[in-house]
Amino acid sequence: MCGIVGCILNKDNAVQFILEGLRRLEYRGYDSVGLAVIIDNNVLVVKDTCSIEQLSSRVDGFKAVVGIGHTRWATHGRPSRKNAHPHVDCKGEIALVHNGIIENFEGIRKQLAFRHNFLSETDTEVIAHLIEENIERGGNFFKSFTYSIALLEGSYAIASIYRLEPDTILCAKKESPLIIGISDKGTFCASDPLALKGFVNELYSLRDGEIAVLKPGKVEVYRLVNRNVVLRVKPKKISLVSFLGQEDLKRSDGTATLEEIREIPYALQKSLIYREEELDPIASCLIRSGRIHIVACGTSYHAGLIGKYYLTKLTSLNTITYVASEFTYWANIDKKDTVIAISQSGETADVISAIKYAKKLGAKIISMVNVPSSTIDRLSDYTLYINAGPEIGVAATKSYVNQLSIELQLATKVSIELGYEDSYIYNEVVNSIRECAKLSSEIIAKYTPLIVKLAKSISSKNSVYFLGTGLHLPTALEGALKLKELSYIHAEGYPAGESKHGPIALVEKGFPVMISSSYLEARDRILSSIEEMRARDAWIIAVSNDDKVLSKADVNIPMPKSNHLVTPMMFIIPWQLLAYFTSKSKGLNPDKPRNLAKSVTVK
Ligand code: G6P
Repeated sequence: MCGIVGCILNKDNAVQFILEGLRRLEYRGYDSVGLAVIIDNNVLVVKDTCSIEQLSSRVDGFKAVVGIGHTRWATHGRPSRKNAHPHVDCKGEIALVHNGIIENFEGIRKQLAFRHNFLSETDTEVIAHLIEENIERGGNFFKSFTYSIALLEGSYAIASIYRLEPDTILCAKKESPLIIGISDKGTFCASDPLALKGFVNELYSLRDGEIAVLKPGKVEVYRLVNRNVVLRVKPKKISLVSFLGQEDLKRSDGTATLEEIREIPYALQKSLIYREEELDPIASCLIRSGRIHIVACGTSYHAGLIGKYYLTKLTSLNTITYVASEFTYWANIDKKDTVIAISQSGETADVISAIKYAKKLGAKIISMVNVPSSTIDRLSDYTLYINAGPEIGVAATKSYVNQLSIELQLATKVSIELGYEDSYIYNEVVNSIRECAKLSSEIIAKYTPLIVKLAKSISSKNSVYFLGTGLHLPTALEGALKLKELSYIHAEGYPAGESKHGPIALVEKGFPVMISSSYLEARDRILSSIEEMRARDAWIIAVSNDDKVLSKADVNIPMPKSNHLVTPMMFIIPWQLLAYFTSKSKGLNPDKPRNLAKSVTVK
């Protein structure tokens, strides 16, 4: 994770650009923040575990044309001032920001330790000292940088500046994303295109193993062949379409998550962007496939479970869903197979690794992403954009609902192509999703006051269970994940039938048990699970469209009786609101939960 930015500007407002870029990248981590600029031939570094606004007040009045910045999600070394980026060499002449993990840093550090003074516990700091070492051996900045990069193992997006070459930023990329941009305002680099929106009119993405030299008004890109050989290559241009839909950028002041939940009705409407025939090539790809492997992490994984349900029930295609980090250990890939990669950000490292692994074995890749031109989009044979609009809150909300909508549209299309359904069904499904958008808006308006009250009671609990079954097992898993992420209350989601195999041992008077159920599926199982819990004096809260289930609950949140397949798009909303208001009721910031980041670009 971590976000990096850098700029060489025509005016001396580099600090303002860096701060703005960091605000836009904060979703990648916010354990600490820092920047380095060159002023009067000196490298000045300001960094801390503070907010960007606090950093901003410390650099007020700094006038610089060149600088780099970093917002951190800690991997090596706890969040602290000394571990914050940028890191510098012994003389403070080289400053460097990094996103990724240097796997061989301990060995390098050992070799350098007798001559170099290390100030942090990070893997990153070794790179600054390595460059220094190579400069001392007579290399210029570029040579010393490339020589040092060649020694690194692991993943990295790096930007570095050097006191004696104040008009240059050197960048390197392997596995972590890095974008370069140019305009008449200057030359830029950043972890993602959003950070450069409004500043550039040409965008390039660095490929793995490339090094970029940023100078005023120009960029040169080189491929690192080995320690001593670099070849100049043509930079890979990417479309400015990456900016589409990013215009209403919000600040993470504790309201973004709530706004994003409230945007679900609108986002769902926007998920209906594909005409049926536009899905033809992707449907054919799935029909031709051997097995279909869905890979994703976090909330997207829960969407992937529902994707499996849709494909299995509507098409009977052989589909398996994996947590992306487990994929290589469990999956058996054949070149006839297809991987469906689901990722809001399109940058999740574990998903990228799974894609690369499957590609090597000849599988086709279909992705579902929210961010166009993201790494996962670029690695895929086909992409479906979920079109949820920018999602800034760390916990995924509206993107989850849109992922489900796109999955259902695709599975319906495949079932029509296979002859399982008549073609008019496609429009019926689209209409159900449209109806669902309308109903979502009513759910939010109607139940917010009740959920605010409920959240107050939940905020004093230590542990909560979320039970579901069939199509609503993922609703239960996602409800638990939301509560855990936003309120730091232990929450466990599991199949309702599993209570008696262990979890019920913890249940005592007042223990909250959240039920997600639809009257069209597994009613008896849910009812008997509720009875088991009631017999132990649990406190039952139900989100359901089943009157019988609702009548057994202590708190009931009735849901509309609509097409069973769209119910997960609505039933998750009360749980998202509950997580949000529980967080608020505990005085936390739901947009920026501790230890988490929106985009997880390390494995
Ligand atoms: C992080 C976020 C989660 C998200 C997961 C997968 O853990 O905090 O909200 O679900 O990454 O992200 P992706 O962008 O791949 O959907």
